[in-house]
Amino acid sequence: MRRGLFREMPSKEKKGTRNHWSHGRSKEEFNDFLKKLELQAIETAEERIPLYLNVGVKDAGLILDVGCGSGMVTRDIAGLTKGQVFAMDGSREMIEVAEVVLKEHENVKLIVGDAHSIPFCSNIFDVTTCNLLLMWSRDPQRVVKEMARVTKKGGVVLASLEPDYGGKLHWPENHRVDPIFAGEAIKKRGGDPHIGRKLRMFFVRAGLETEIGIGNSRIWSCEEDKAYYLHSRDYYVKVLKEAGLSDEEIDQWEYEYLNSLDEGIELNFFPQFYAIGRKP
Ligand SMILES: C[S@@+](CC[C@H](N)C(=O)[O-])C[C@H]1O[C@@H](n2cnc3c(N)ncnc32)[C@H](O)[C@@H]1O
Repeated sequence: MRRGLFREMPSKEKKGTRNHWSHGRSKEEFNDFLKKLELQAIETAEERIPLYLNVGVKDAGLILDVGCGSGMVTRDIAGLTKGQVFAMDGSREMIEVAEVVLKEHENVKLIVGDAHSIPFCSNIFDVTTCNLLLMWSRDPQRVVKEMARVTKKGGVVLASLEPDYGGKLHWPENHRVDPIFAGEAIKKRGGDPHIGRKLRMFFVRAGLETEIGIGNSRIWSCEEDKAYYLHSRDYYVKVLKEAGLSDEEIDQWEYEYLNSLDEGIELNFFPQFYAIGRKP
């Protein structure tokens, strides 16, 4: 590990590796979460990879992926570059999973660290990225400022996907279930379902020359929506149970939902925003 890249951390912050981001997940919930991250990484590759190429990951010498989770997304970045990739997460358990996921990638180094106080010196990375991190951050503005701080002058900060469930469109409607998947469930778990619309503000206030866009311009087919649902069914059912729906109500909703998919009339869309910020 190249020691010169790291900054001296106040001892209080050095200890900040306790896994409070797991929100006290049980082993089973943790494994479900890993499955969800894997599926998400596969399903969103077509949106993220053009962004990595656009910000110059291929020719970058040093890249930092903040909030790397299980490393599924970092794997895409590492595969596109010969540069050195550092991947950081606040959760030691996640980093242990990422060690396995990324074991073939010799250009990746993993560290435990808090995105609110990144343990690297200023002005060192060509590209600093995050994916689905800001939505779950206690103070996203501070995280973006930290990402900008560790990025070189002329380098790029990229938030590749941050959704905005306020823009969610779903048809046929279900007045009970739609609001749960349009943000209520995320809020209940401590996330910000409206993070997408705030990206421009966070990046501009971090002093970055900012470009905002929507990564997912394509609407999924009913077959794709059905495949995603069937993979993630346990998660959906669990969220609906937590929201207070009875087994009968969930069965009825699922019956109608699957029928609309099989008939080919269902439409589901929510915007996934990205932000590219150049450090002047
Ligand atoms: C939804 S997951 C996304 C993981 C990965 N980027 C991906 O897209 O597959 C969010 C990750 O951010 C991490 N995280 C949340 N807050 C953090 C913080 N303040 N510092 C570092 N990591 C954090 C969590 O531990 C989790 O692994």
